Amino acid sequence: MKMILDERGKKYILKPGVEFQSDLGIVKADVLDSAQIGDEVKSHLDHTFKIVKPNINDFIDLMDRRCSILIKKDIGQVLAHTGLGSGSRVVDAGTGAGAIALNFGNVVGETGRVYTYEIREDFAEVAKKNIDNFGITNIEVKNRNIKDGIDEDNIDLIFLDLPKPYEIFEDVMDSLNVGGWLAVYAPYIDQAETSYRVAKKLGFYDIEIIELLERGLEVRTQGVRPKTRMVGHSGYLVFARKL
Ligand SMILES: C[S@@+](CC[C@H](N)C(=O)[O-])C[C@H]1O[C@@H](n2cnc3c(N)ncnc32)[C@H](O)[C@@H]1O
Repeated sequence: MKMILDERGKKYILKPGVEFQSDLGIVKADVLDSAQIGDEVKSHLDHTFKIVKPNINDFIDLMDRRCSILIKKDIGQVLAHTGLGSGSRVVDAGTGAGAIALNFGNVVGETGRVYTYEIREDFAEVAKKNIDNFGITNIEVKNRNIKDGIDEDNIDLIFLDLPKPYEIFEDVMDSLNVGGWLAVYAPYIDQAETSYRVAKKLGFYDIEIIELLERGLEVRTQGVRPKTRMVGHSGYLVFARKL
């Protein structure tokens, strides 16, 4: 897969045999097809573009989506908190466009497996296409309501990003390996609180609610200071472990 980066840092995924067009000009398909990663190509308006290999974040930024997607600070915390690694088995719901499912697939590698449930057929189709286009084969998209039951067992992580996730915590407990993690993403605090209380009642351990606040710094000639604007809130993360 190749990506083109323009002088302003804007990026676009390239398709073989398709010319590139933007306000900075056109680059012909044969020029792009023969360009190697790291090469520079010029448009007919004499603007320079760099050919880059996209990583998972570039791909997710540019992929098709019909709903909001999880952002990097929250995805990173799920991966780090649960110690997900090569060979892990993951259940994920709802898939949405597949942002965290792709990250799970990327981390668990060829020996791991991701089962991702999406209730809406149109969203499941978009996610399947995104996953195919990324070229990863260890993710299975299931067009299913996860509340009808979790088919898999011996799971290391079950991640839930859907309304009233606590309704299926008993099923989650059954499907998890001992030592496995339940992780919930909840935009609203009452959903996080109920998740905490239900997990506690069912006998989960190491239960925590976390909110991550990310603030960038800006480097100016006068000095360095926090940016005025930041992501105020995305969601709460609830973690609970089966022991
Ligand atoms: C906010 S989106 C998920 C975003 C996604 N987790 C990501 O990585 O960007 C929530 C998704 O959950 C799906 N959903 C809601 N209830 C569901 C259920 N019971 N089973 C499966 N999917 C469900 C919705 O259709 C929607 O696509």
